[in-house]
Amino acid sequence: CGIVGYTGTRDAYPVIVKGLKRLEYRGYDSAGVALLHKDQLKIYKKKGKVADMEEAIGTKNVEGTTGIGHTRWATHGEPSDKNAHPHLSKSGTIAMIHNGIIENYAQLKNELLKKGYEFSSDTDTEVLLNFIDEIRQQNDCTLEEAVRIALKRVTGAYVILLIETANPDTIIAARKGSPLVIGVGKNEHFLGSDASPMLEYTKEVVYINDYELAIVRPDQLILKNLGNESITPYVQKLDLELAAIEKGGFDHFMLKEIFEQPQTIFDCMRGRLNAVNGTITMAGIQQYAEQIINANRIIIIACGTSWHAGLVAEYIFEELCRINVEVEYASEFRYRNPIINKGDVILAVSQSGETADTLVAIEKAKEKGAIILGVVNVVGSSIARISHGGAYTHAGPEIGVASTKAFTAQLVVLTMIALKIAYIKGSIDENRYKKLLLELDAIPEKVAWILNHHEQIKTIAQKYKDARDFLYLGRGYNFPVALEGALKLKEISYIHAEGYPAAEMKHGPIALVDEQLPVVFIASRDAFHEKIISNMQEIKARKGKVIGIITEGDETSKALCDDFISIPEADEIVAPMLAVVPLQLLSYYIGVAKDCNVDQPRNLAKSVTVE
Ligand code: G6P
Repeated sequence: CGIVGYTGTRDAYPVIVKGLKRLEYRGYDSAGVALLHKDQLKIYKKKGKVADMEEAIGTKNVEGTTGIGHTRWATHGEPSDKNAHPHLSKSGTIAMIHNGIIENYAQLKNELLKKGYEFSSDTDTEVLLNFIDEIRQQNDCTLEEAVRIALKRVTGAYVILLIETANPDTIIAARKGSPLVIGVGKNEHFLGSDASPMLEYTKEVVYINDYELAIVRPDQLILKNLGNESITPYVQKLDLELAAIEKGGFDHFMLKEIFEQPQTIFDCMRGRLNAVNGTITMAGIQQYAEQIINANRIIIIACGTSWHAGLVAEYIFEELCRINVEVEYASEFRYRNPIINKGDVILAVSQSGETADTLVAIEKAKEKGAIILGVVNVVGSSIARISHGGAYTHAGPEIGVASTKAFTAQLVVLTMIALKIAYIKGSIDENRYKKLLLELDAIPEKVAWILNHHEQIKTIAQKYKDARDFLYLGRGYNFPVALEGALKLKEISYIHAEGYPAAEMKHGPIALVDEQLPVVFIASRDAFHEKIISNMQEIKARKGKVIGIITEGDETSKALCDDFISIPEADEIVAPMLAVVPLQLLSYYIGVAKDCNVDQPRNLAKSVTVE
């Protein structure tokens, strides 16, 4: 979910609505605002997008210089007007929005039901709100005090923002496990799940930590812990421009982000990779080099697309560094009492740096003595902050819900880490090391070359857009690329797609092959090339339609393809950075041809801050 708050001298409503639109990537099944004008509290909320809420509000009164807003990704209760936030307390004086899950809500709800409370929604949020309200009435205390008492009883993850009629210029906020940023202006404060809602107003921000509570007024920001001790807010300067979060002439954020890749990959290597001198500079990795080299194993923890980047990294690390690597889904890892020994090294890969499962998984590993290195895109995010070291991917804000430029940046960073470690360890031969540095250096230009051929990919998309299923096959370094290609298509076009190791296809998916089934082969020239050609033949023999991602000039593969997309020649270690780009475009163009909302696909959220 996305949350926004404002208190200051401006009208709160436009600031909040604009902020919510920026945060819609975090969830978009309903939206709402609560506004305080003098002692009048008004709540408007609606199922659907922020624009639906605006339309429903129409010309209604939206006065007020203090307010909170929410865009929801449903956990408890289906998307509906009544389940949308903000919620109103039974007393009618407090409004609250919430991002996260209150795990012991059933117990709290029972207590309240016994006291005669009735609930008008199915949400855990309404339970927590009334629990707070009840405490306030029982103890005759301030809202701040009631929130503090209530949160000591709560298990789960949350960011909450509350406003009340008794203090019309004050927002009370608290966090545990979900992100919260407060922007500091002149006689005004902004609150957000990330900094995007406040970008045009201020560059001074405070990242709120777990178990902190903020009392926010136009001219005052008070920060406390749950023990009621004051904390000095640490104000940081934001290094983010407004242009970075706007579409800049493209039809969709996803397309813009795909086309940004030559630049983002370059940015990710800038100041780090020097192919001429043969050096890689990564301070946050360098200081842990010895531990990585001596580690029994490296565990890569991630979710979704980031997990796919981790899989590619497994192949690269094992090949270049000769260190045992395991790649784990964060959600599985955290719940299965994993064996972690002191000195194990964890690489946490995450675009947002806020994915709840990844965050908790690394917290657990940290407690057991592992070294945590983050490969994270969002600067200052929770995962970045709890990691011992690591490297940012520097891809800039990624707004399209399906990850594209963050993925290629993850591949680049992980490859640079592997090369750096292999070089220090001496497990890579000097010539190969230098060659791979040059290969990396050439990637931005090669990606630009692929993007220049986008029209051809668009034509192929038109041809296959009505297929019911797709199969994506690859071997070696390109096997995770097949998984990622299939995931992109599912996310963007709702076509069922499966990624598989090309040879393993014989043990099941081959049963699906007929003349209706497009099979995408990621078949750039590498050590397994002849093998994958055999797999192509196996599909052709069963009349499947072969779409090949092939190396430019590879006539043998071309002859077997019904359609093909060429990518420039590259070493197999860096080939995934190229091979994934046409797959991103293919799913984008199919999604657009099917009239899907490619930037905000149904049911998905960009940043999954619930488990
Ligand atoms: C969500 C997003 C995916 C992303 C995954 C992991 O599912 O829709 O695009 O890959 O979360 O997110 P992270 O921010 O940790 O990389």
